[in-house]
Amino acid sequence: MPVEPLLSESEIRDRMAALGRQIEDDYRDRPLTIVAVLTGSLIALADLIRQIRIPLRIALVQASSYRGATTSATTLVINEAFAPDVTGRDVLLLDDILDTGQTLAALVRHIHDRGARSVRTAVLLRKVGRQVVPIEPDYCGFVIPDAFVVGYGLDYDDDYRHLPYVGILSQ
Ligand code: IMP
Ligand code: MG
Repeated sequence: MPVEPLLSESEIRDRMAALGRQIEDDYRDRPLTIVAVLTGSLIALADLIRQIRIPLRIALVQASSYRGATTSATTLVINEAFAPDVTGRDVLLLDDILDTGQTLAALVRHIHDRGARSVRTAVLLRKVGRQVVPIEPDYCGFVIPDAFVVGYGLDYDDDYRHLPYVGILSQ
């Protein structure tokens, strides 16, 4: 399927550098752990952490949502096999995209329950007009229109993650 470029490699690089500066200032002398949501935020994680020149730890969580067969309610299953202890740490939760907000909101609650000292959120992208859960990301790369996007970690059916830019997938 064709992918129409939306955000170029250099635009993303510049924005990541700016976010890095902001995070550096906000978390100086604090025990920062960046918890990245698999798999979509891996590229953003790798690029962002290299723009942050203060000590930090990284952790990974996986969150999968399942829609019930008989109801429209979704259940979020959280797998934290690669998430070290965040007790007393200042956690920055990193996801690829804020769409309905369900994933991020559930993960914020979960990490608070795990004993984190603080939990903030960072997203590469935020789609307008899609949110059902009120959550304001503390750091946001780009606000994008309501279209299905791929690349720079984001997938369609697990493809396209490796594209170095973000583009709109035309279906
Ligand atoms: P939310 O819980 O609805 O905010 O869902 C966020 C998750 O949905 C993201 O982590 C992505 O995995 C996926 N997602 C939402 N919109 C897109 C998109 O346009 N492209 C690729 N994945 C998306
Ligand atoms: Mg995802």
